[in-house]
Amino acid sequence: MKVCIIGCGSMGLIYADLLLKTNTVENSNLCLIAKNEIHRDKLQLQKYSNIKFLDESNIHAADLIILAVKPQDFLSIKDKISGKINPKALVISIMAGISISSLQNNLLHNSCIRAMPNAPALFGKGMTVFCYSSALSEELINFGEQILSLTGKSIKTNDENILDLVTALSGSGPAYFFYQAKLLMAAAENIGMDLEMAEILVKQTLIGSAELVANTNLSLDQLVNTVASKGGTTEAAINHFNSSGFEKIIFEGLQKATQRSKELAQELL
Ligand SMILES: NC(=O)c1ccc[n+]([C@@H]2O[C@H](COP(=O)([O-])OP(=O)(O)OC[C@H]3O[C@@H](n4cnc5c(N)ncnc54)[C@H](OP(=O)(O)O)[C@@H]3O)[C@@H](O)[C@H]2O)c1
Repeated sequence: MKVCIIGCGSMGLIYADLLLKTNTVENSNLCLIAKNEIHRDKLQLQKYSNIKFLDESNIHAADLIILAVKPQDFLSIKDKISGKINPKALVISIMAGISISSLQNNLLHNSCIRAMPNAPALFGKGMTVFCYSSALSEELINFGEQILSLTGKSIKTNDENILDLVTALSGSGPAYFFYQAKLLMAAAENIGMDLEMAEILVKQTLIGSAELVANTNLSLDQLVNTVASKGGTTEAAINHFNSSGFEKIIFEGLQKATQRSKELAQELL
């Protein structure tokens, strides 16, 4: 199998590394597309052996093309690859906001998957939701799922509209947890703890909590209840969150992010 990755920034290289690490593809069959000589030289200093600039020959040879450029760079690459893709090849795009029909129309290629991964993909702990073109065979859907699952969990859907909410929830999600952790640190400092100590406590609590979620069958409600005993300290904080409209703020934040995802997609049209 020959794989071509266009856009070798943080996400593109995650796929490159996982494809090599899992022996899904051999180094010589993994073609990384560099944007310019500086980018190529940077990639060459790493472990990759096959780095090219975008042209017809490396596109046509690929059985799988992963599009991992920023959405606004799609227009600059599409002219070079439109109509040049092997009709049997699968195109997986992780670009936010570029629809399946836009991929198909701009690339003149039918077999497309549109996926929304997230940053923990770096450690194989990612969450990807993907949808696929209606013409895609079961075999190519399964193949695409296998590739996307290298980065963690994946869910397929035939409802493309849900991808805006997915972008807002799991795509942006890691930042929401980091943001809350930062607020907890600042609050602890204000109440009287040294910031360095607060950072250790908050980060380790975040890591430990994720492990708990990952390694138990308990629901999130049950997990809250295992920590929050009646009349205790956790309950005091949670009661305050509840009576101060925290739930509404989270709901509205998610709504805003979903709306922004829709707007960005419109701006790209
Ligand atoms: N990061 C995330 O957490 C995340 C999550 C979900 C989805 N995504 C999606 O993943 C895509 C990539 O994101 P990223 O964070 O990996 O961005 P990134 O680090 O900026 O990587 C994009 C890469 O594409 C390269 N590029 C641009 N035009 C090119 C061209 N014509 N030929 C070859 N390479 C070109 C850029 O090169 P230069 O740096 O030289 O310009 C850069 O290395 C985006 O569409 C984003 O929506 C990202």
